[in-house]
Amino acid sequence: MNHDDLKLELLNLPVKYLHQMARGRIHRHFRLGKQRLVELILAFPPDQRLAIEAELQQIQKTRQERLALQEARSAALPKISSPPLRSKVLSPKGKPNFGPPQPSVNLQQILEGIGVPEPMPFVPDPWQTEAVEYLAHSDVIVSAPTGSGKTYVAIQAIKQAMALNQTVIYTSPLKALSNTKFMEFTQLFGSDQVGILTGDRRDNAQAPLLVMTTEILRNLLYDAASGEIDLRLHTLGLVILDESQYLADPERGVVWEETIILCPAQARLLLLSASIGNPQDLAEWLQAIRPIPCHLVRHAKRSVPLRGLYLHPTGQLVPLFRNQDIHQGKGYHFHPETKRLFAEYEIKPFI
Ligand SMILES: Nc1ncnc2c1ncn2[C@@H]1O[C@H](COP(=O)(O)OP(=O)(O)OP(=O)(O)O)[C@@H](O)[C@H]1O
Ligand SMILES: [Mg+2]
Repeated sequence: MNHDDLKLELLNLPVKYLHQMARGRIHRHFRLGKQRLVELILAFPPDQRLAIEAELQQIQKTRQERLALQEARSAALPKISSPPLRSKVLSPKGKPNFGPPQPSVNLQQILEGIGVPEPMPFVPDPWQTEAVEYLAHSDVIVSAPTGSGKTYVAIQAIKQAMALNQTVIYTSPLKALSNTKFMEFTQLFGSDQVGILTGDRRDNAQAPLLVMTTEILRNLLYDAASGEIDLRLHTLGLVILDESQYLADPERGVVWEETIILCPAQARLLLLSASIGNPQDLAEWLQAIRPIPCHLVRHAKRSVPLRGLYLHPTGQLVPLFRNQDIHQGKGYHFHPETKRLFAEYEIKPFI
């Protein structure tokens, strides 16, 4: 096989087969991308080159068999137009040729209902009320799906604490999210009531409600513990740790851990998260290290349905999963059309 033919055949392979060929031949091949792997395989000495060609033929034979099977399966799918899969799809110039966009599966159903809902009077959910009530005498962990209304709990808790002239600290793991919350809280409580402290900004640090990144709070608590600065610890009534699943982050988790440990005893802790796997363990730990009880509020139902769609580079839009709505903690399976497009994407590399 000449150099160009071999290059084309290698580029047409999914990258996992290139890794298979590189195993034992290229040092740390698993760190390399497709282009680099192909370059290095093409640079093998002649004796290894023969072995590579034999391996390539074997892989192609197995793949042809598998693709034929896949093609037969997708042809049997209802309402889905399936262009025939081609094993060699690069044009002579090496540009991928996707062909015209395929008519998609019936998307109407999955897109239905997306938009701004009709205005309705706001009624807090029972789990939201429960969380706010418990904060009067306990720390609270709220574990509820994305978009379910954890911010409402935070806002009510802030109002409660501010009515008692307490200082409130709200932390998020990201400067961008802290900036957004700063704007949101400023609109709600007034600019004189809200301050922000991040690595980039320091505004209105004497305000009763302070928004910051968790790292900044941890550092302030360190300094306060060594008596260096006045964080108004004696008036601190509430500390909200949003996105508190970061506690489990291998690198940054220690920041959340230290913040919780250093949090003054009289302040309530409110931990908000959509994705803590074991909130009960966390509640027990909080209870063990803090002098007040910790109440866990768990809410599993998604108020905002979550749906997945896959946009193929051709512009074709298809459902990502077989089930229309993605439910918390449920296993899901890719939609057959998405699987077919994934397979096609693997065959047609971008170069
Ligand atoms: N009880 C409720 N009834 C109807 N809508 C609500 C209720 N509580 C909150 N919402 C609305 O739900 C939307 C999402 O709320 P919010 O931003 O608080 O979600 P979240 O739980 O913090 O999600 P995330 O995990 O993504 O941060 C907001 O528009 C909010 O106004
Ligand atoms: Mg939120």
